[in-house]
Formats: sequence, structure tokens, C-alpha cells
Amino acid sequence: MNRVYIKTYGCQMNERDSEAVAGMLNERGYVIVNSEEIADIVLLNTCSIRDQSEQKAIGKAGQLLKHKGNKSQFLLGILGCMAQNRGQALLDSLPDLDLIVGTQKFHHTPDHLDALISSLDQKVSDVPLPIVDLDEEPDSQNTIRHHDPTNGRVSTFVSIMQGCDMNCSFCIVPKTRGAERSRPMEQIVDEIHSIVDNGTREVTLLGQIVTSYGKREYPTLRGKTPFVQLLEKIHEIQGLHRIRFTSPHPLGFRKDLITAFHEMPKLGEYAHLPVQSGSNQMLKAMNRPYSRERYLKLIDSLRAVSPNMHFSTDIIVGFPGETEDDFRQTKSLFKRVGFDMAFIFKYSERTGTMAAEKSDQVSREIKDSRNQELLRILEGHSLQRNRSLVGSIQEILVEGPARKGEGMLMGRTRGYRKVVFPGPPSMIGELINIHIKEATVTVLKGVPAVSHSTAQGTASTLVNLT
Ligand code: SAH
Ligand code: F3S
Repeated sequence: MNRVYIKTYGCQMNERDSEAVAGMLNERGYVIVNSEEIADIVLLNTCSIRDQSEQKAIGKAGQLLKHKGNKSQFLLGILGCMAQNRGQALLDSLPDLDLIVGTQKFHHTPDHLDALISSLDQKVSDVPLPIVDLDEEPDSQNTIRHHDPTNGRVSTFVSIMQGCDMNCSFCIVPKTRGAERSRPMEQIVDEIHSIVDNGTREVTLLGQIVTSYGKREYPTLRGKTPFVQLLEKIHEIQGLHRIRFTSPHPLGFRKDLITAFHEMPKLGEYAHLPVQSGSNQMLKAMNRPYSRERYLKLIDSLRAVSPNMHFSTDIIVGFPGETEDDFRQTKSLFKRVGFDMAFIFKYSERTGTMAAEKSDQVSREIKDSRNQELLRILEGHSLQRNRSLVGSIQEILVEGPARKGEGMLMGRTRGYRKVVFPGPPSMIGELINIHIKEATVTVLKGVPAVSHSTAQGTASTLVNLT
């Protein structure tokens, strides 16, 4: 009774939380398996951002519980955002659940499973079932730090803060993740040192609003916010090639962070800047504290310090009251920035948020068609941008074998574009110059270029690997 399968829904924060839970369970003697078929215990780490995300997990849980009907030795737990959002109410539709663990309680999962298992072993249980653990817990942000020292992954997620104090009118995150809480800088820096010792070359700093890192815990020093102070410390770590972060807030991009893109080469030439809408009226209704003009100015400022910047964004179409004209504004902003990547969401009503109270909801057909329209524009931009890189030499951090093709490797450019190329496994974890030969919407293909000294200095030429 010790094989656990963890299924993760949603964002990178959830993936990281699941990984930490898996690590803690491992230390406690549980075995993490990669299929529900061979598991004694299934944990669903859930997402609440849209209704669809919740429905998927509820559907899965229902299916597993049906299966449980004829098995006395099986446990099912729901963890994370939906556990926090729905709490006890989950039992209305899933009365046979064994465990409900909120977003500040992940680290108690091993204790809860131990208790559940011992109650299965006794005929009369002294553990009231199910176990529901949802309260706030001070310092819980410091508990997501366990990494598997043996996995030697090139790119690793590091959780730096939890929660969000903004109050975007569409968003359930402040409810599911709670108020902003940050981890101590030294603890984060130590964690990164140790994963770099184990082979990591790129970290992605994670939090619901990473640019607010340390706002409560640390002062701004010489015009530098705690987030930029943290970036500076991480930037000094030898052996670490790249630093990424998600999700930031446009408001967090003040002068200090913009300058950082000029001064810290490890940040690369890429930023994710969630805009949500290009219409000032919608931004106001969404309670996003910036205007279209200010957002565009921010893009220009970043391009001024780093001309090759690549941008991605989040957009919501069909927010209540969004008119054709509002959507036109979003399209025009979209075209003006020329995003390389975008996550386009159809607005989903979340009970308990301010926007759910609005009466002027947009029809599903309109949301679908606006979504499609933006996707088409995005495809055009991505292809155009990728094609513009054909013929150039790009610095790639080699992440690992490509999914397809023998002897093929996969890595990313400084602008976060995916590149596939031939090369030996010894290149994994290295920064390699690649000559880009082909482009599709989502991927670039190339061959390694080697540097050699010439009378004129260092030049790159092609290596013929075939
Ligand atoms: N902290 C980030 C976003 C976190 S949620 C920020 O500053 O924007 C990730 C994305 O999900 C959001 O950017 C938004 O585009 C989308 N999203 C959030 N709530 C949504 C809802 N109710 N319906 C549709 N999309 C939503
Ligand atoms: Fe959500 Fe807005 Fe925070 S989108 S995560 S409330 S910045």
C-alpha cells in the first residue's frame, strides 16, 4: 500500500508543488509510480483557473472512485487549488474521497497518507474520514523546496513566493493561493546552488506574481526592488547559464527590472507580460492597474534596452461587456507588439470573483470566434519571427534529447524559441551555437556551428554532422 500516482493539472506552480510532494513522499518510503493503473493511492493536484480545469479533475476523480468501489485498498486525494476553492463541498459530488489538501498544506500530505493507511489497517478507525486540511499556515511558502538530487535536469523550477494580493476581477487565484508570502533570499539562493551542483543550468523562478517577490519582507534598496535584488544574487551563481521567471505582472516592470534585462545576460531576451486586454475600458473592468498606452510603453522600453526581445502574453477574450470595439483594440495591440507566444483564454465565470456578478456576459460563439481570430494572428507572427531567424546563429541551452528523431537534441534560444538539431548527448546542459536552417510556427531546426580562431578573430562555421 505504498505506490502513489500524482496527476497534475494546470500551471508550472502546480507542477512544482507536485514534484515537492513526490519528493516528501519518497523520503517517507512511498514509491512514486507513473500510472494510475498500478497505484494504491492517487493524488490529483488540481487547478481552478477556469471551470473546465475543475470539471476535468472532478470527472477524473469520479471515474477513479467508481473503480475504487470494488477495491478496499485504494485511496484518492484532491490537492491544491480546487481543494482550496471548493473544500468540503467537493464531498457533495465525490462522497468517497479520502483526502482534501489545500494549497498551504502540501507538506502535510505524507502524514495524512500515513494516518489513512493505518486507519485502513484497523477495523475500527480512529481517523475521521475524509481528512480535510485547508487552513492557512504561516511560512508554508518555505516548504516547497525539495528536489530530487538524482534527476540531473538541465532546467528546473524554483518556487520563490506564493499567493497574490492583486484583485483582478476575473481571477480566483487570490482565493485559492491566499495572500502574498515570499521565501527568504538566502534560502532560495542556497537551493539554486545545490541544484546547479546537481546539473541544473537554467532556473525558472515561480510564483503567482513573482515581480512582487519580497515586497512585505524586504525593503527596496538603491531603487532596486527585492525581486531585482534576488535576481542579482542568483545571477552571480557560477555554472548557472540562464534565469527565467513566471508569472510576472506588468506593474512589476519598473526601471530596475527593465535595466536588469540590459545588465544581466542570464535573463536572455524573453519576457512574459500578461496584458489580458488591449482595451482601456476592459482593463479597468478587469481591475488591471495599467492602460494600453502604458503597456505599450513598457514593451518599447524593454526593446530599447534589448532590441531582440521576444514577448509572450496572456489574453482573455469575452470578458463581460467586451464589445467588438474592445476586441478590435486587443487585436491592434496584439499586432503592434507582435507576440511570439500567447496564451489566449476564453473568459470563464468563477464564482466568488467580482466579474461573475456582471450581467453582460458574452456568448460562447463570440468567445470562440475571437479566440480563433487571435490564434490566427499569433500563428502568423510566430512563423514570421521564426523565419526571420533562419540563417542566423543562435545560442542554445541544450535541454535534452528531442522527442522525435534519433540523435536529435532539443534546446532553446535566448528568446525562448525551441530548436531541434543533431548532436551527441554530451552537449546536454551546454550552451551551443546553432546555425538555424528551417522554421515552422513552433520550432526551429538547425545544425551546430563551431567557433574557431581566424586571423580576423573568432568566427563560427558549420560542422557537417552527417
Ligand atoms: N499572475 C498572472 C496570471 C495568473 S493566472 C498575471 O499577472 O496575469 C494565468 C492566466 O489565466 C491569467 O493571466 C489570465 O489570462 C487567465 N485567467 C485567469 N482567470 C481567468 C478566467 N476567469 N477566465 C479565463 N482566463 C482566466
Ligand atoms: Fe490573478 Fe491578477 Fe493575481 S490575474 S494571479 S489576481 S495578478
